[in-house]
Parts: sequence; structure tokens; C-alpha cells
Amino acid sequence: MKNFTSVNDVSNLPALLDMAARYKKDPGMDRTLGQHKRIGLLFFNPSMRTRLSTQIAASNLGMEAIVFNVGQEGWALEFGEDTIMNGTTVEHIRDAAPVLGRYFDILGVRTFPSLKNKSEDYSEQAINQFIRYAGIPVISLESATLHPLQSLADLMTMQALLPAGHKPKVVLTWAPHVKPLPQCVANSFAQWVNAWGKAEFVIAHPKGLDLSKEFTNGAHMTTNQQEAMEGADFVYVKNWSSFQDYGVLGPNDASWMLTPEKMKTTNHGRVMHCLPVRRNVELSGKLLDGPSSLVTEQAANRVWAAQAVIAEILRKMV
Ligand code: CP
Repeated sequence: MKNFTSVNDVSNLPALLDMAARYKKDPGMDRTLGQHKRIGLLFFNPSMRTRLSTQIAASNLGMEAIVFNVGQEGWALEFGEDTIMNGTTVEHIRDAAPVLGRYFDILGVRTFPSLKNKSEDYSEQAINQFIRYAGIPVISLESATLHPLQSLADLMTMQALLPAGHKPKVVLTWAPHVKPLPQCVANSFAQWVNAWGKAEFVIAHPKGLDLSKEFTNGAHMTTNQQEAMEGADFVYVKNWSSFQDYGVLGPNDASWMLTPEKMKTTNHGRVMHCLPVRRNVELSGKLLDGPSSLVTEQAANRVWAAQAVIAEILRKMV
């Protein structure tokens, strides 16, 4: 693995999941793998889990991690190829990324989509330009369209709880929110569950909120949330804004909030969410506080997912 921006960068998904599980059992087993190496973690947007779990993962591998909140503290970066820079941007990615490539051995980058320009967001302009100009491996800490470290942790969480001798039913259900959110987590979860190939996979959403087929192909799509819940082993709750009417919140039907009542027809279904979550908007507080919730386990597994990915890249560098 040279870069890590999607499941397509993973040559052996079962082996990567196995490595993450091994780090969970023994976090220090490769404590010198990253010795004398440095990872830069660039955040254009806020983060708690991604930032801290990646720092801990790097530390477990003996690596130094330096966080740069570029969105708040850095120069405003320009990504346009031939832009005349007489506006608000101060530094071009072509000039900044090679410098970062000299400071660090690996670069982690978190960007969000504009939710205004679909083709620009779905071209992954920002992360691709870091890859192009930094000259070192780049790890996505969430990009305009995907959140692969989250998805790896999500698969790891489900894999540890797979019902014996039974193909699990995994449901990704849209949830209401107070503002339009990116499609990243949902796209990425769909892409990784499809690549995993171990589940019956259903995606439920209100009309007009279809995700890009690029990521959902293979899943059964429905606009009937309650029907989707029947027999579900895992229910992943997530809001996303419209892909078709790009970036629009839409009717935001509050009746799609996941409640204990809706879980009654599941197969003792476990509830998942990437966090942060809007309690009693996306998902009922009773479910989050109850025994079916996996949200803390998912967030805890972010450390092992990041550690497995960084280690895989480090092994390719030596
Ligand atoms: N799930 C996730 O990426 O959390 P943060 O935004 O806190 O990093």
C-alpha cells in the first residue's frame, strides 16, 4: 500500500482486518517499526476521534506525530491548477506540499467537501493534489467523498461480532440532521461492506437521497426503513445530504430517526454510528445508552485501524 484513500488501495482486506485485530490484542508488538519516522496530520476541519486515534496509533509504532490544524492556523491553500492568486488564497498546494514531503515520512490529510461543486468534490481534488505534489505516502483522514479509516474500524467492529454460521444482515439507514452533511461516511461504509463481501447489505433512505452508484453497487436499495430493519444484525445510522440535488438537506423527515421501537424487528440488531451524533435527532438517546450500541467500540477501534494502515505503509517503505 503506497497511499490509503479508499478500499481500492487495500490489496488484502482480510489480512488488514487481521492486522488491526492483532494490534488491538497487543498494541506494542511493533513499537519500533516507525522509529525515527514522522507523520504529519493535517486537519482542514475539526476532529476528535480521527486526530487522537491516529496520534495514538503512530505512537504505538514508535513514530512521532505532528498535528497541524491547517484550516485554522495555516495559510489559505489554493488548489486550482492555473489560478491567478490575487484573491484570498495565500499559498499554492504545488508549493506547500513538497515542503511537507520534506518534513514528514507520511502525511495524513483531512478535508471535507464544499457540498457546492459536485464534480470538484467527487474528483477528490485536494487529497489527489497532496498525493501528486508531496512525494510521500498520503493517508486519508476523511476526504471529500470517503472516510476509509472509519470504514476499516467499522468492519473490524462487525467482524468481531459476526454471528456464527449466519450471513449477517447489515443495514445502512439515512437519518435526519440539522444541516447538510457530506456523503463520505455512507459512501465509504457502502464501498467497504461491498468489498468485504460477508453480508447481506441493504441501504435505506428517503426518496431523492440515493448515494452514488459508484459506491453502493451490490447493495439492495429501499425507501422503506421499517422493511429494511427486519432481521438486521447491524444497523448503521448516518445522515447524508443529497447527491442528486447536490449538497441539499432535503425534506429532512424526522420520522427516520432510529428508535428502540424500530429495532424490534431486527435480529437483536446492534446500532452503529461514526460519531459525533446528534442525540434524539439522528438516533434516540435510549439506543445510544443501551446495550445494543456499538458506537464507543467503533471509535475505540479507530486506533487499531489507523495502526494497521500506518504499519502497512511503513513496511512498504523499508
Ligand atoms: N468519526 C470521526 O471521524 O470523528 P471525528 O470527526 O471526531 O474525527
